[in-house]
Amino acid sequence: MPDLAQDRMLLPTYEFKQDLIDAIREHAFLVIIGETGSGKTTQIPQYILEEMPEIKKIGVTQPRRIAAITVSKRVSEEQVTSLGKEVGYTIRFDDRTSSTTRLKYMTDGILLREAVQDPMLNQYSVVIVDEAHERTLETDVLFGLLKQTHRLRPDLKILVMSATLDVEKFSDFFDECPIFEIPGRTFPVQIVHHQSMKIQSLKSNFVSTAVETAFYIHTTEKSGDILVFLTGQADIERACQEFGDKCKELNYSRDVKYYEAEYRDDDVRDVAIYPLYASLETMEQRAVFEPARPGKRKVVFATNVAQTSVTIPGIKYVVDSGFVKEKSYDPNTGMDALLVTSISQAAATQRAGRAGRTAPGKAYRLYSSDSYDHMPPDTVPEIQRSSLLSTVLALKRMNIVDILHFEFIDKPDETLVMKALTQLFLLGAIDHNGVITDLGKQMNSFPLSPYLSRVIVSSAIEHECSEEVLTIASVLAGDHDLFRAPSPRQGEDVVAEAEKCKLKLAHHTGDHMTVLNVWRTWRDNDESKRWSRDNWVNHKALVTAKSVRSQLIDIMKDLKLPLVRARRIEIEKSGRKKDGRSRETVREVDAVPILKSFLTGYYTNVANKATGRSVFSHYSPDQHFGEKTSHSSSALVALHLHPLCALSDMFDRNKTKYSQIDWVMYMQVTYTNKAVMKGVSKILLDWVRSGKGHERIRQLASANLNGESAKITSKKRKQLLADDSTPASSAESSDTD
Ligand code: CDP
Ligand code: MG
Repeated sequence: MPDLAQDRMLLPTYEFKQDLIDAIREHAFLVIIGETGSGKTTQIPQYILEEMPEIKKIGVTQPRRIAAITVSKRVSEEQVTSLGKEVGYTIRFDDRTSSTTRLKYMTDGILLREAVQDPMLNQYSVVIVDEAHERTLETDVLFGLLKQTHRLRPDLKILVMSATLDVEKFSDFFDECPIFEIPGRTFPVQIVHHQSMKIQSLKSNFVSTAVETAFYIHTTEKSGDILVFLTGQADIERACQEFGDKCKELNYSRDVKYYEAEYRDDDVRDVAIYPLYASLETMEQRAVFEPARPGKRKVVFATNVAQTSVTIPGIKYVVDSGFVKEKSYDPNTGMDALLVTSISQAAATQRAGRAGRTAPGKAYRLYSSDSYDHMPPDTVPEIQRSSLLSTVLALKRMNIVDILHFEFIDKPDETLVMKALTQLFLLGAIDHNGVITDLGKQMNSFPLSPYLSRVIVSSAIEHECSEEVLTIASVLAGDHDLFRAPSPRQGEDVVAEAEKCKLKLAHHTGDHMTVLNVWRTWRDNDESKRWSRDNWVNHKALVTAKSVRSQLIDIMKDLKLPLVRARRIEIEKSGRKKDGRSRETVREVDAVPILKSFLTGYYTNVANKATGRSVFSHYSPDQHFGEKTSHSSSALVALHLHPLCALSDMFDRNKTKYSQIDWVMYMQVTYTNKAVMKGVSKILLDWVRSGKGHERIRQLASANLNGESAKITSKKRKQLLADDSTPASSAESSDTD
């Protein structure tokens, strides 16, 4: 058992204990920076506990759950108390605190919820926002709220702790408060770049390159543990497997001279391989933080969690893949998704720094120094990389009603906020006072664009077809086209064959119902890859959709939204048999409620076909409002059907069937050399006109929101709207029932 009390005195923060306490006593706001591992998270709260008896309770936030758990465990050990007594943690669904808890570690999301409920934060005497440089959406909002709390409660101590980045900004935001810097006690780290590797070309194979590099280090470098930065559970598990296999092979050939020659350090022939990511079981996580046994080299494959949140002892070599998985807005799907993207220079510096904590180290970057030079200097805060519509809705969910006047450390663009507010109002997610509705809360629970979330909620509560709509939405939410197009080089026969397959699966109303047809036929064929291939269907699109669908179903269950099958209708089909003509009745899914559900989100994406022509023009019920409310920028251009659209298939050469199309709804417009609609189905204009969205556009117009839509949140707007509040509020209640 190591002597924890002794260890504590060796940390860089220790010699500044008294200065820190003095500074905290003196200032309401204080920014504290220091290298990762210097003792900020574990020690400073303990100093306050030990030296400031007047302090009631300390709250410390962490962006990651895993950090809140591991740190509170460590600190309770150092305080020689059992976890949950004086020291505890709270994360969602897991509260390990009690009435005696004086030091509480928690996620930033937990404190945010507490701050919304109790703006005075009365239970705390000190609040510490840790890992502030991570700039999560929650941390950014907390900053604004804490500033408000300070005005109400000047006695509250607010500390911001961060790795050594961007701190002037924090200080400026908190009334130019002092910055307390804990000098680093780090050793030099030699940086090695993979000079011939551009980061763009690395993207497809960074996992195996990282494994090879780690193996190279293991076989050629002296003792010292290895930390490899990858992006997520899947690639980490894969890397652990590949690296383990390589080591087994190596042990096999131990006697072979060749390997002996390359083995620099005989003391670390064996390896202990650890994965480290946020969703691993706690016990497994714990082993990573213990020193490797003698004769073993610890090799850790980790996500960004090891960058600044947790410190793994003994690391001397770092392998930086150059990539991270982070929440980003994907303009192609309109969705916020976890995307693998290249890191910033600041992140690369932090990663390399992990190698020099206890001795001189070495960082292997899998990309060239030129690629490094082209990286953005800093990581973009989450608030600026999520879709604004989802972000604004999330802020409303946190009860930040007046978004334009909220104090953000980095303000979102004002006109874009106003547009987002207008959209959210039209979708029924916020009311005339800018307050989130029950519908908006439900929409916020889906990881989809608010448009698609609106569709799903509506299919469950108004149109009774959520089973089918979920399927269609899952496919449309993805990035893939449902059908594969043969290249003309494959010959006319192949092209004709593909056309035939598509036609067989197509539904006469268009893409939405066609998606359903394809999905059901695929399921009837045991989700076979072969069936997909033979029918020119994109198998991957369906497999992805299946996983998306089951996640959405879980959310529906949480929200207690019913899963209902659409009604079936009987259709008479005249067929031809050998013995003459016959009529048969078939039961089919009724397309009407399904398409109406989609219109609740996409009623501004409506076009109609110019008579006798093959192009469509956008129908804009809001044209005269000046400000465009539709979420495509297609108002004035001629719109074309995408060649893979089900409807475009059903036009025969003479375009006779074309004339049967009048009004369509589309999901998205892409611009190549012309504006092309995707996800298109036939609708009736009456459905649009009688829809709630359309009604809301009228409300927006009569309230003259144009140019002032931001004021949707302000008192003035409320007064303006007071006159016609009756129809508005009745529409509201029916929306959110
Ligand atoms: O917050 P900061 O990065 O400045 O440091 P810290 O998290 O307080 O860590 C200080 C020291 O405690 C490091 O040397 C860690 O190795 C050690 N520590 C630990 O052994 N186990 C933990 N769960 C957390 C920290
Ligand atoms: Mg820390």
